[in-house]
Amino acid sequence: MSDTLDRVLDRVESNFDDSLERLMTLLRVPSVSTDPAHEDDVAGCARLAADLLADAGLEAKVHDTPGHPMVVATGGDPDGPHVLYYGHYDVQPADPVELWDTAPFEPTITGDGDERRVVCRGAADDKGQLMMFVEALRAWHETDGGPPIRVTVLLEGEEESGSPSLDGFLEQHREALAPDVCVVSDTGMWNRDTPAITTMLRGLVYLDVKLSGPGHDLHSGMYGGAVVNPLNELTRILGELHDADGRITVDGFYDGVREPAAAEQWRSLDFDEAAFLESAGLKSSTGESGRTVLERIWSRPTLDINGICGGYTGEGAKTVIAAEGRAKLSCRLVPGQDPQRIEAALIAHLQQRTPEGCSWEIHGHGCNPAIEVETNSPWLRAAVEALGSEFSNETVLCGCGGSIPVVGSFQSILGAQSLLVGFGLDDDRVHSPNEKFDLVCFHRGIRSHAAIVEALAGVGAPAR
Ligand code: BES
Ligand code: ZN
Repeated sequence: MSDTLDRVLDRVESNFDDSLERLMTLLRVPSVSTDPAHEDDVAGCARLAADLLADAGLEAKVHDTPGHPMVVATGGDPDGPHVLYYGHYDVQPADPVELWDTAPFEPTITGDGDERRVVCRGAADDKGQLMMFVEALRAWHETDGGPPIRVTVLLEGEEESGSPSLDGFLEQHREALAPDVCVVSDTGMWNRDTPAITTMLRGLVYLDVKLSGPGHDLHSGMYGGAVVNPLNELTRILGELHDADGRITVDGFYDGVREPAAAEQWRSLDFDEAAFLESAGLKSSTGESGRTVLERIWSRPTLDINGICGGYTGEGAKTVIAAEGRAKLSCRLVPGQDPQRIEAALIAHLQQRTPEGCSWEIHGHGCNPAIEVETNSPWLRAAVEALGSEFSNETVLCGCGGSIPVVGSFQSILGAQSLLVGFGLDDDRVHSPNEKFDLVCFHRGIRSHAAIVEALAGVGAPAR
């Protein structure tokens, strides 16, 4: 480690309380990208993020897109390797709000000592994580006039709603962005003492479906038994999407599925299944038979009902046959599966089972494939070495069951590989009430990003 990095890390330490304050300011903005009611909040959050980047020594600009704005900031050493940092400033809705112990957009510090954490929607996903590299870049700026790499920061405002404007933006700015490597901070650690770099992400297909039957709601005594009940039919069709072994019954669903390249190496990981289950409030796992939990979440495709509604769900009883039922369905995809084909196969599966007297309305919310990241690269080796200076445990190369569409777009549009270096934990409750981010993770994440800057500079700029 150089003397300069030593001084940068001292700066990280002396800045830490202010770093946390700045994170809390960002967390207070309810930048829910899926909800049109929050459009101004999302735009305000983009401006605030741009101000924080400018304050960290970068030149920052908010770019309009057909959807929510993109924030782009540049700076650093023009002769160093060009590193594109990515994070997203949008968050998931806070619903169900009544299950939060504190106001979802009022960041609250709870716990003591090493257990201190900030509770707020977006704390771990992804504002806490993006602020780690922003604060690391700030420490470099305040210590040495700037980082020894050429930096572009890209902060997206639509990640949680499927990144509809991302590809167009990347295509439009392909020349200016042109990175040597990308650093994406939106994933997890192996555990709070063991850093991780994610080398595989699952893809996603998402459908909104509505099954309609009678022209209007009916009295279930007058009509029940003699007319189609869309909710009975919808739940039956959805219930039959898995067989007794947990396998998905859609024709062609498993066509082309292959084991990810890293799967062999995952077998040797010491996975704490009990802790994983505890983070979900459960004691046992379920899923495809003959597969371990890690295989189920990292290397096997899934189909989940994410929401279902219809009929009467208020107080007391109401004897009614609802005219329609709705559901939201998603599939997590693995290498070898073509998202468009899976989407088409699922739609065909539903349509072939259309009950007499019913019709479907089906809308897709985007498709993206599983991603495998290049593991034999000097960038990855440099990042692993930098993490080694911060943690006594070796870095784990892991998979991730979630999806981060930008990683695929960086590959296909910019021709660039990503380093997925994240500091979330399984029990962060991302997308759930009481989302939190441990301050230990925030702190170590800033230090790690500061060290990674120097390690990437050490790889040098490839000949252009
Ligand atoms: N940060 C998550 C991805 C993630 C999930 C990383 C779990 C580590 C563990 C990301 O913000 C996310 O939630 N992505 C969505 C993508 C979708 C809306 C296209 C997802 O995976 O559901
Ligand atoms: Zn995220």
